[in-house]
Amino acid sequence: MTKTLSLLAFSVNLLFAAPASWAQTSIALGRADFRDNCASCHGLAGKGDGPMRSALVKPPADLTTIAQRHGGQFPQELIWELIDGRWSGDGGPHGSREMPVWGQEFKKRAMGQPGDSSVTAEWSARNRIISLLKYLEDIQVK
Ligand code: HEC
Repeated sequence: MTKTLSLLAFSVNLLFAAPASWAQTSIALGRADFRDNCASCHGLAGKGDGPMRSALVKPPADLTTIAQRHGGQFPQELIWELIDGRWSGDGGPHGSREMPVWGQEFKKRAMGQPGDSSVTAEWSARNRIISLLKYLEDIQVK
């Protein structure tokens, strides 16, 4: 699993020729980001029972059973795309997406930081998504 992710990060790194930052991603960072940005809908434990739940048309997914629902494998690429959202074309399981387009959102937030370019902001967005993936993979029910 981690191997696929590092490969992904590596090719992204080549693409943008930005400082290697695989080391800057971690389960802990993902956990903190999840608490700040995702728990309102998905619940602190990721079970889909956040306080925003009643305001949504579709119930937020239980994020601890992703692997279970995919034959025991955590589908990294699929989940990356669902979280990032910029390539979803609003199709697929997200339909009329109720979830923010995190790739865009994280990039926008990073662009607001002094000294950040669109390249470093893209990096920051991707790093955050990698950390979130590491965290989600860690909380899968066995
Ligand atoms: C405003 C509410 C809301 C927030 C905030 C939110 N989500 Fe979601 N998310 C949803 C809803 C609703 C669904 C399921 C329905 C759908 O497919 O649109 C979903 C689905 C998902 C899925 C797909 C799960 C599956 O099994 O198909 C993933 C992964 C996910 N969210 C991750 C995240 C992450 C990571 C964050 C924080 C960065 C986040 N979500 C924040 C509402 C939200």
